[in-house]
Amino acid sequence: MTDFTSGFWGIFIFIITVISIVALFVFIANFKGGKKIVPGEDKSTTDHVWDENLSEYNNPLPKWWLNLFYITLVFGIIYLVLYPGLGSFAGILGWSQTRQYDEEIKNAGEKYDPIFTQYANQELMAVVNNPAALEIGKRLYSTYCTTCHGSDAGGARGFPNLRDNDWLYGGDPATIKTTILNGRAGMMPAWKGLIGEKEITEVTEYVVSLSGREADVSAVAKGMGTFAQYCAVCHGADGKGNQQLGAPNLTDDIWLHGGARARILETVSLGRQGNMPAHKEFLGDAKAHLLAAYIYSLSR
Ligand code: HEC
Ligand code: HEC
Repeated sequence: MTDFTSGFWGIFIFIITVISIVALFVFIANFKGGKKIVPGEDKSTTDHVWDENLSEYNNPLPKWWLNLFYITLVFGIIYLVLYPGLGSFAGILGWSQTRQYDEEIKNAGEKYDPIFTQYANQELMAVVNNPAALEIGKRLYSTYCTTCHGSDAGGARGFPNLRDNDWLYGGDPATIKTTILNGRAGMMPAWKGLIGEKEITEVTEYVVSLSGREADVSAVAKGMGTFAQYCAVCHGADGKGNQQLGAPNLTDDIWLHGGARARILETVSLGRQGNMPAHKEFLGDAKAHLLAAYIYSLSR
């Protein structure tokens, strides 16, 4: 992007602006109109004549209009002295968007931080049982988490439901807080190329059967072996998952990435890498504390 506030362009804009303002003053001073008409005196006209005898009076511009014009010009000059606008000149007030933003954040921090920190030193369970604290947690949730987990925390494909008491990484308040602070990265490998197409189809059939659905019996029998060999390390021998790894329970018919046969086949073939961003730097401990209590309260 061209930087219009420095170097050549800064000077260019400075000169153009100053010339324009001066020129406007000169223009309006010279063309504000002729003398006031005195009754009886010969009315002066400009020299413009149209259609042989249609001429134009040279009356002065109305005073109020002229003054408004001067006021806007003076306002423009004062503005350009105080605020940035004149090329690279930053204005004597030193105002900038960034500084204003920082100031507002600081003021908000001074106002709200004490409200957050009063709960930060309390046990999570005590916060969970405090309706006023949960109300704050709810507002924090609406601000920071709804984009991914939904306004009702019901989740979406790839973004877990946070109110169903089914947890990838564990649902006690302390674990939830760890998830919020440090983030999580789910790592489901892509099996395409590592095992054959046929084995992928069979193991998919087995996964379908795990959640109690109808499946091709002979494929399930073969898929079971593949599962024990490649999948049980993470999802457990019984397919009930592993919260250390965030490997989902495959037997409960709750699906992060979709439970239709075709979706499961896609998950197994291409892998999935769900990413929950770390919020430690961004939110800080006090807000994460309130959020963890709020999320925990949702599934109770
Ligand atoms: C290295 C550990 C690991 C191995 C091995 C592994 N998975 Fe996964 N699997 C995961 C993780 C972690 C997720 C969650 C991915 C996410 O968070 O986005 C997952 C997700 C899934 C899902 C989606 C579940 C849902 O709720 O949508 C299916 C289905 C699945 N795995 C099946 C398999 C099968 C079949 C195998 C063996 C061929 C296998 N996985 C091997 C770790 C593993
Ligand atoms: C950019 C999208 C995104 C945002 C923003 C986000 N999350 Fe997540 N979150 C995820 C994803 C994706 C996962 C699942 C990670 C995985 O598949 O391993 C997740 C997982 C979680 C989990 C673990 C759920 C379980 O079953 O163990 C919790 C708790 C959570 N998020 C809470 C929050 C809270 C609270 C916020 C707001 C501060 C938040 N998330 C903001 C995407 C997001």
